[in-house]
Amino acid sequence: MIGKDEIESLIERYDTNRISIGTLGSHSALNIFKGAKEEGFRTVCVCTRDREIVYRRFPVVDEFIFVDRFSEILDEKVQERLRELNTILVPHGSFNAYISMEDMLGRLYVPMFGNRRLLSWEISRDKQREWLLKAGLNLPRVYSSPDEIDGLAIAKLPGARGGMGYFLADSPKSFYEKAEKMVRNGYLSREDIKNIQLQEYVLGVTAYFQYFRSIIKNEVELLGMDRRYESAVDALGRIPARDQIHIDLNPTYTVVGNIPITLRESILPEVLRMGDRVAKIAEEIAPPGIIGPFCLEAIITDTGRIYAFEISARIVAGSNVGIGTSPYAYLKYGAGMYMGRRIALEVKLGIEKGMLGKILY
Ligand SMILES: Nc1ncnc2c1ncn2[C@@H]1O[C@H](COP(=O)(O)OP(=O)(O)O)[C@@H](O)[C@H]1O
Ligand SMILES: [Mg+2]
Repeated sequence: MIGKDEIESLIERYDTNRISIGTLGSHSALNIFKGAKEEGFRTVCVCTRDREIVYRRFPVVDEFIFVDRFSEILDEKVQERLRELNTILVPHGSFNAYISMEDMLGRLYVPMFGNRRLLSWEISRDKQREWLLKAGLNLPRVYSSPDEIDGLAIAKLPGARGGMGYFLADSPKSFYEKAEKMVRNGYLSREDIKNIQLQEYVLGVTAYFQYFRSIIKNEVELLGMDRRYESAVDALGRIPARDQIHIDLNPTYTVVGNIPITLRESILPEVLRMGDRVAKIAEEIAPPGIIGPFCLEAIITDTGRIYAFEISARIVAGSNVGIGTSPYAYLKYGAGMYMGRRIALEVKLGIEKGMLGKILY
């Protein structure tokens, strides 16, 4: 594993007057790059040719490094170029998807704005659960075996698959029937079935809270909120029930976009406290805790009870809804603040105060 001292010696060799903010060209890269530019940084995009159009059409990138696959960010030549450009990498969801945890921890010799050590907590559902429970959050009940199912349950596969292959069951019988069918249709393998986590299905609306934990200001900020626009589950309501029964639908939760939301103000106290507690526990389980953005995925019931079902300890794509417009960021910072820019601002403050070593890992 790359030691903190190694990252520090990389930073020492950097020209802090010429820092670039870099990331992979996908997920929330526009958000990150735009924010970096607005705070006066140069930007560097590790990009594949098929996605180049995005970062040319929206002029937010100063330097491109083209690769055939995102995992080539690990290549020595790419890393060398990134360091040459004094790059601080901002990790997002595609890092988890394309780079293994071992490689993130052991082979990426570029300073990163984010705590790599939290990654092992983030990618395991069980560890996430432990973290959130320690923080005193309400979580959906977990059934330890399909035979325990006594109400509506959601079956989830390990790792973030964007809801692919998830299904609902309301009894042991319906679970085994559906699982069998999913295997037969090629959606799941037998191995998948063994690794399924069964959660109580919480009836309510989803809300994703985007926080920023600032080490420099010693504060947890709420900067935005969204819900996901998921195919096909968000399309089901447009089909009458009798037709749904006929075509034997199974909801899938593939994210295709995000929708901004603002919450009833009476729900905000709990949302703010949840963020504080999650950040506090992170300091204990993986010092120095969360660096910068994190997101709690939650369901809010009709009684206002908030159930958290997932956490991301990095920028989430939902924060893209806030580029230039987030009401919560506005309340805190005035016009034009959003997650990507907040990241760049923290880096800028880090440089000014000589605290880069505290926020880069
Ligand atoms: N316990 C639950 N009750 C009701 N709906 C849920 C529950 N857990 C997840 N969902 C729905 O399923 C989607 C995907 O679940 P999630 O755990 O976030 O999977 P992924 O790891 O693929 O992001 C969520 O966005 C939400 O719409
Ligand atoms: Mg999720």
